[in-house]
Amino acid sequence: MDNDIERILYSRDDIAKAAKRLGKQLTNDFQDKRPIIISVLKGAILFTVDVIKEMDVYAEIDFIDVASYHGGTQSSGEIDLVRDIGSDIAGRNILIIEDIIDTGRTLKYLIDLLKSRNAAEIKVCTLLDKEEGRLIDVKADYVGFSVPNEFVVGYGLDYQELYRNLPYVGVLKPSVYTN
Ligand code: PRP
Ligand code: MN
Ligand code: MG
Repeated sequence: MDNDIERILYSRDDIAKAAKRLGKQLTNDFQDKRPIIISVLKGAILFTVDVIKEMDVYAEIDFIDVASYHGGTQSSGEIDLVRDIGSDIAGRNILIIEDIIDTGRTLKYLIDLLKSRNAAEIKVCTLLDKEEGRLIDVKADYVGFSVPNEFVVGYGLDYQELYRNLPYVGVLKPSVYTN
C-alpha cells in the first residue's frame, strides 16, 4: 500500500498527538454532560478509537453509517443512510466524530437528522477539515488538521474501500485513480 502514496501528510505520531490534544479539550468540555458520541462509519473508525481513549468522561458510544462517495474521489451529492444509530437522542448532548469534512454535505445531513430528533446540543470533532472543499456552510468545533484540497486516504479514509487501514494520512498517487 505504501507504494501507492505520493506523500505522507500526517504521520502516525502526528495523529496520536492530535488525538491527545483534542481528547484533553473534549474531556474539559464534556465533563458533566454524559454525551452520546456518534462515530460516522466507515471513515471515522480509526480516529474514533484513538480519540475516545483520550476522553476521560462518562460517554455512550453509537455509530451511524452514511455514505456519499461510494469509493470514488468525488461526492455523489446524495447521502445514503446505510445504518442508523440505536440510541434515543432527544434532550441529549451529542458529539459527532468524523474523519473529514469536505463539501460539508454529510455533516449537514447528520446535523439536520439529529436536530429533527431533538438533540439538546450537537458538537462536531473531525480529524481533517478540508475548508477549500466546502459547498455548504458547516463548521467543526474540534479539528485535528486543516487539510489541503487534495484527495487523501489512510487512517479510515478510503479510495474504493481500500487504504482505510494505513496508519497515516497521505496523498494518493494520481496514477492509482487515473488508470
Ligand atoms: C466521506 C468522509 C466523510 C464525508 C465527507 O465518507 O468519511 O464522512 O465523506 O465528505 P463531504 O463533506 O463532502 O460530505 P464517504 O461517503 O466516503 O463514506 P465512508 O466514510 O464510508 O468512506
Ligand atoms: Mn464518511
Ligand atoms: Mg469514503
